[in-house]
Amino acid sequence: MNTNDIITQKAAAIAEVNAAGDLAALEAARVKFIGRNGLLPQFMAAIKDVPGPEKKEFGQAANGFRNEVQAAVDARKEILAAQAEAAKSAAFDYTLPGSWPQLGSKHPITQIIERATAIFRTLGFTVADGPDIESPFNNFDALNVPADHPSRADKDTFYLDEKAPHESLLRTHTSPVQIRVMQSRTPPLRIIAPGRCYRRDTTDATHSANFHQIEGLYVDRRVSMADLKGDISYFAKQLMGPDVKVRFRTHFFPFTEPSVEYDFSCHVCGGKGCRVCKHSGWIEISGAGLVNPKVFGLVGIDPEQWQGYAFGMGVERIAMILYGIPDIRFLYDNDVRFLAQF
Ligand code: PHE
Repeated sequence: MNTNDIITQKAAAIAEVNAAGDLAALEAARVKFIGRNGLLPQFMAAIKDVPGPEKKEFGQAANGFRNEVQAAVDARKEILAAQAEAAKSAAFDYTLPGSWPQLGSKHPITQIIERATAIFRTLGFTVADGPDIESPFNNFDALNVPADHPSRADKDTFYLDEKAPHESLLRTHTSPVQIRVMQSRTPPLRIIAPGRCYRRDTTDATHSANFHQIEGLYVDRRVSMADLKGDISYFAKQLMGPDVKVRFRTHFFPFTEPSVEYDFSCHVCGGKGCRVCKHSGWIEISGAGLVNPKVFGLVGIDPEQWQGYAFGMGVERIAMILYGIPDIRFLYDNDVRFLAQF
């Protein structure tokens, strides 16, 4: 092997490097010529056999081989990298429409609660809160529910402790929040309390063991059935539009006197009768009435000085007539095809 061999090989190596079509081919050429097991180490090993006077020239040629091949590799690498970059941006089509992430939406129950809260806020109500797990006192006794009332039975109420006397239950309505508010604040009071309720109901198209109510409580010096009817009618019109009708029917609740149940005209059929309102034209929303003076007595508010009204609202019922949902169970399935409609 002599100096000329190296110079010939150098030209061939540089030509091969320059011909590398991609980064992988380039790396293969680099390894072949100047890698640890490539051609260059062979030149270096051959130095010892080169006759003395030619050693210097041979060594310089070997160094030149290394430097020039390395320089060729570096230059080629830059070119290939630039080409790869150009190919990438050429593949990006700026005229394609963007891909939109699927946005979630609020559950219809949440939407109704938020709208109802906003409407009652315009009447001066603020939101109060209470726990789902309640005492029988707050859920029943303080609301003047007699000890033998059927709604207290295990058949209707979820008690959390097996043996009587029970100490905790899942609230059967949001009315215990009335008690909490009246015990912890002084009148005048104006609150609504949205939340979950639990009853041992068999599930069907209009019943669920777990549902939502919005409780309302208004306590002031002079409060009458006219205030109750006016405020509920105002609420109904704000929520469902000016054509909705509200109907009050006499009823009985231990914690209100007098008591009513109230219905909204069916929003789906405009009161003509349809599947959602079971062909009656009306949907029962819940109960209401004037706070029973006995309840005021049980929470330490003087019934001679204060009067009040209270109401409950079934949120699922409102959602069903507002959106035309024929079966309450749709609200709990969390099927995206259903939820995406709201
Ligand atoms: N708590 C009653 C129910 O769940 C509704 C109601 C609330 C009635 C407030 C009167 C006053 O049926």
